[in-house]
Amino acid sequence: MFPTTRLRRLRYNPVLRDMVSETRISLDDLVQPLFVKHGNAHKTEILSMPGIYQFNIGEAVAECQALFALGIRSVLLFGIPEHKDEHGHVACMADGIVQRAIRAIKASVPGMLVIADVCNCEYTTHGHCGSIVDGDVDNDMTLEMLAKQSVSLAAAGADVIAPSDMMDGRVGRIREALDDHGFLKIPIMSYSAKYASGFYGPFRDAAGSAPQFGDRRTYQMNPANSREALREMELDVAEGADIIMVKPAMSYLDIIAMAKASFSVPVAAYNVSGEYAMVKAAGANGWIDEQRVMMEMLLSIKRAGADIIITYFAGDVARLLTK
Ligand code: PBG
Repeated sequence: MFPTTRLRRLRYNPVLRDMVSETRISLDDLVQPLFVKHGNAHKTEILSMPGIYQFNIGEAVAECQALFALGIRSVLLFGIPEHKDEHGHVACMADGIVQRAIRAIKASVPGMLVIADVCNCEYTTHGHCGSIVDGDVDNDMTLEMLAKQSVSLAAAGADVIAPSDMMDGRVGRIREALDDHGFLKIPIMSYSAKYASGFYGPFRDAAGSAPQFGDRRTYQMNPANSREALREMELDVAEGADIIMVKPAMSYLDIIAMAKASFSVPVAAYNVSGEYAMVKAAGANGWIDEQRVMMEMLLSIKRAGADIIITYFAGDVARLLTK
């Protein structure tokens, strides 16, 4: 009791303050998302995401070399293809944009862990995450495309398969397809609790994946629900997910904490495009201290229970911590 106990005692000396710090950001935990575009045109910066680019394959390889030298040893790849089609067949081709990027990155930076996002929205003309039947995304038809896409990405050399589509049963179907093709050792990191979120706005500009009609509320989760997230995670774990993910991160710290408390698989959190854009915009205006807020935000995601953080800030954090 006060005055014997004074909690401020441990806060005066900076060395001691660091020693008793309960949470730390390690570069080992961070994954940098990269957008790779078809063709030879040079990189274009995404207007709403300063510092984030659509790269051609050569530039993506150079970026991976730079990140690796900084201590970021994992990337998550998204593709911007030359053509799109009704069902996303272009996402399943051996010479597809992401497949080619994976081969180039693995050849030049073999130590880089390459995670491949699996979804159709960047590859379909209508921008939905699956095949449309009667105006609705057909779940079971979409599973077949996701399975094909996953096998093709694994064959190209992806180290981890990360389905982000939110179809029912996709983890089980993808596991079965990977195993049938001999990819027994390739883990699945499932976007298990992925919410229908306004925070994805900048990403849809970056990846050119905004739905052309309707929205994603019939497959992504309602932000009001947390018990339902448990059901999503339970099913994914039962179907063979090796890592479960919560997305977005900042407004869903309670879901991250619940995931950590309820399951013994590692938990990933996706610090999404809108979360990045807000910090960058306020920082550029001088309204907040960008670096301080970046670290505080990532720390909160870690403190909530995330083992892995996917963040557009990964490179920035590495540059800050290795300065
Ligand atoms: C594809 C996908 C999305 C994101 C990751 N994978 C967009 C979406 O669901 O609309 C969002 C990532 C971000 O906002 O940073 N389904």
